[in-house]
This record gives sequence, C-alpha cells and structure tokens, in this order.
Amino acid sequence: MKPYIFITRKLPDEAVSALKEKYEVNMWNSEEKLVPRDILLQEAAKADALLTMLSEKVDEELLSVSKNLKVVANLAVGFDNIDVEAASAHGVAICNTPDVLTDSTADLTFALLMAAARRLVEAAEFVKEGKWKSWTPLLLAGQDIHHKTIGIVGMGSIGSAVAKRAKGFDMNVIYHNRSRKMDVENELGAVYSSFDDLVLTSDFIVCLTPLTEETRNLFTREVFKKMKKTAVFINASRGPVVNEQDLYLALKEGEIAAAGLDVFEKEPIDENHPLLQLSNVVALPHIGSASIETRMGMMKLCVDNIDAILSEKEPLTLVNKDWTLTR
Ligand code: DGY
Repeated sequence: MKPYIFITRKLPDEAVSALKEKYEVNMWNSEEKLVPRDILLQEAAKADALLTMLSEKVDEELLSVSKNLKVVANLAVGFDNIDVEAASAHGVAICNTPDVLTDSTADLTFALLMAAARRLVEAAEFVKEGKWKSWTPLLLAGQDIHHKTIGIVGMGSIGSAVAKRAKGFDMNVIYHNRSRKMDVENELGAVYSSFDDLVLTSDFIVCLTPLTEETRNLFTREVFKKMKKTAVFINASRGPVVNEQDLYLALKEGEIAAAGLDVFEKEPIDENHPLLQLSNVVALPHIGSASIETRMGMMKLCVDNIDAILSEKEPLTLVNKDWTLTR
C-alpha cells in the first residue's frame, strides 16, 4: 500500500503533482475554509504525512491518534501551531519553510511600514471616495522614513532582510534579540539594544519575533506608553505577541502615531474589531510571504520534505533536530 498524505487545504495541482506520482494524496476540498477538527483527526489517524497550514493545531490530541504519522510539513516558517516537543516524543518529524520566504516577507514588512508611516491606505481611499478637493500643505502628512531609527525586535533572517532594506533608506538600525547577531552588526552596522531602550528611542518598532511563551503579550500598554508619540508600530510576526486592546488604546489616545499589522490575535480578524475602526491602522490579512513565487516555493519545500521523510532521506528543513525515525 502506498503511504497516505493528507493536505489540509486545496493547493494548486501543479504544487502537489510530484507527491501524487508516488503516494496516495488526499486534499481538503477548499482553498479558504478550514478543515473541521473532527475530519482532521480522522485523516491524521490514517496519514503517514500531513501538509498543514498555520491554522491547524498539531497537538497531543492529534499526535496521539496518528499512529502512522511520520512527518508534518507546515506551510509557514513559524510553527507555534505545533507542539514540537510532543511531536518528537511521538517520533514525528516537523518541517517548516524558512529561507524561501525571507525576502518576500521582508518586502511586505517594509511596505507595511511605509504604508503606515506615509498614510498610503488612507490617502488612496481619500482619492477614491472623491474627498480630494484641493492641494493642501499638510493634507495626509505622515512620518518620514529616511534617516529615522528602526528598532527590529527579533533579528532572525527576516529581521536581517528588513535591516538591509532599512539601510537603503539611510535608516539607523537597532535591534533586540535573544542573542547578538554579529553578522548583521558587522555587515549592516545594526546596533544591539535592550528591549526598553529600543522602544524608547525607535521611530519605527518592527516586531518579527516568533511567538513563544516569552514573547506572548510582549507589547502591552506599558510598552506602548514608553514609545515616542510619533512612533509607528509594525507587527509581521504573530498576533498574540501584542496585546491588541492595549495597542488600540495607545493608538486612540495618541500615545503612538500609527500601526501596520499583518497578523492578529484571532485570524481572520472580525471586521468590527476596534483596531479596524482606526484610520491610523493599516491592516493586512496575514500576507507576509504571499507572492505567487514564494508561496509556490513554500509548497515545493513542504512537498520535498514529505518526500524525503517518506523515502527515508534527510529532510531539508527539520524543526525538531532531536527527531529520529522510529515509525
Ligand atoms: C510564516 O511563514 O510563518 C508566515 O507567517 C506565513 O506566511
């Protein structure tokens, strides 16, 4: 019998054709709708491999019913939807999609920064709504980007790629990270900072840190209050790193100038969410890595990881380095 692979979202046929040639592949039938949990559990119970989205919880419950499961390939670099420790204990390899999405995500992060700083979304709506009646000196005037200080929280590959873009805008780059990044310091002149100094002195605070128990609820009212009144806050990592109620109050009370958000505590965010009622918020539907080339590249990497594990070869991008094939 061929190994069985379940893919939790409808992906383009060309993205999965390599798997279909060798394995039995079943794909959830919708591009948008989540696979219901009970169906996911039934499929996982039969599967040798799962190709998951960041919306699926891969937890102890799922892992303990998945008796044949050897690999979960998650279509994202982040893997906070997965209990990695439990996966290792069950002998399941976890793979993600680093590197392939670095530049696209950095492009989007910088675009979000620019849009929030220069009020691009507000301005575009203003024109389309027929509100533009005359040229006015301070009409939709925002914050300058060039020669300002950008503080990057989370200096991984995407953080470094954002720093590189910032240098092109003559920005002063500071960063906070669990460990110092000498390559970024040497190559780009980025300066390591404590978290407190970063929030106090940055004009742009860009959150790119993974969601962990240490980073959950990192940005609270107390932190926003320390920022400059002209500060622009950008989040392109994970929603729960930010206390959204506190961010809302900080924006509403003018404690910071604007925010650009690609991620939210609960996704998709409800259209009536208070943050979406503010004109100084640019909100995007978690599209950091969403260029066609990059998303296709991410799918290919998931496919290659699954094929490697099912063929007893080394996976390309293994998350749980302590994993060994025991199944
Ligand atoms: C990731 O890869 O973690 C992104 O958030 C999804 O685009």
